[in-house]
Amino acid sequence: MSKVTVVGAGNVGATVANVLAHKDIVNEVVLVDIKGDFAKGKALDSWQQAPIDYYSTKLTGTSDYKDTKGSDIVVITAGIPRKPGMSRDDLIATNAKIVVSVTKSILKYSKNPIFIIVSNPLDVMSYACLKASKSKPSRVIGMAGILDTARYRAFLATELEVSPKDIQAVLMGGHGDTMVPLPRFTTVAGIPVTDMITKSKLNKIVERTKKGGGELVKLMGTSAWYAPGAAAAQMVESIVKDDGRIFPCSVWLEGEYGVKNMFLGVPVQLGKEGIKKIIKLKLNTDEKKLLKVSAKAVNAVIASFKKMKLV
Ligand code: LAC
Repeated sequence: MSKVTVVGAGNVGATVANVLAHKDIVNEVVLVDIKGDFAKGKALDSWQQAPIDYYSTKLTGTSDYKDTKGSDIVVITAGIPRKPGMSRDDLIATNAKIVVSVTKSILKYSKNPIFIIVSNPLDVMSYACLKASKSKPSRVIGMAGILDTARYRAFLATELEVSPKDIQAVLMGGHGDTMVPLPRFTTVAGIPVTDMITKSKLNKIVERTKKGGGELVKLMGTSAWYAPGAAAAQMVESIVKDDGRIFPCSVWLEGEYGVKNMFLGVPVQLGKEGIKKIIKLKLNTDEKKLLKVSAKAVNAVIASFKKMKLV
């Protein structure tokens, strides 16, 4: 018995709802957007796919937060996407207000939902939701690492001519150009990737991954949605199923990895209460250095958010 609300019926939100419905693991998905008819249309279109693709998850769209009442999980995708030439951080002025107001509207009708944040700048919007909701930190989780590792895995699959299914990887840091892919913890069917690819080719893939979102913005004039939507749906799935899966996610840190009072991407185990466990990897000196740089970059944007005095 689960009800999931997806806030924002744009490309990413609609994809989260659609992918989630296909998994057929929750009873109900409500798509909410200030453009109510648009959300209704997207949900109706997805619902009409149900007899073809065989799912029973009920999909509805609305602009009225009353319809989100009693949600167990809320995925926030609301906000503006990037245009070519923009960094995710350029979105803060608009998206911070939206995320804070959405969080408050949700809490009028749902007591203690688990929040999954997708809006950018991701790590800072997760911070905004935590502060606005006063939730337990384990119940506010940013979606970034699944998407960023997926990009990294997809690039590796193309380069090595193997199935992306066989590539396992972990990545840490902020959802920005300072993210930290970890080749030392990347395998192809259990074989260290470093045994299968030259250092320079791997470095190129790491660099392409860091700018993976920007590459798509350049190609399409707006940001991506298939992989981001599927990534958020995968987080919902593992929370609903409580199956102990481990993913990199942006979470509130209280000293882990030497990072405190901020959101940053680290490997975590998800479960029915949100974050079950933060996994502590033994990083080497270089990896630690890169993580520190990334934390610093995210912290600078948190400082801009604090100056806005929205919470
Ligand atoms: C991206 C956006 C969703 O990386 O942040 O495509």
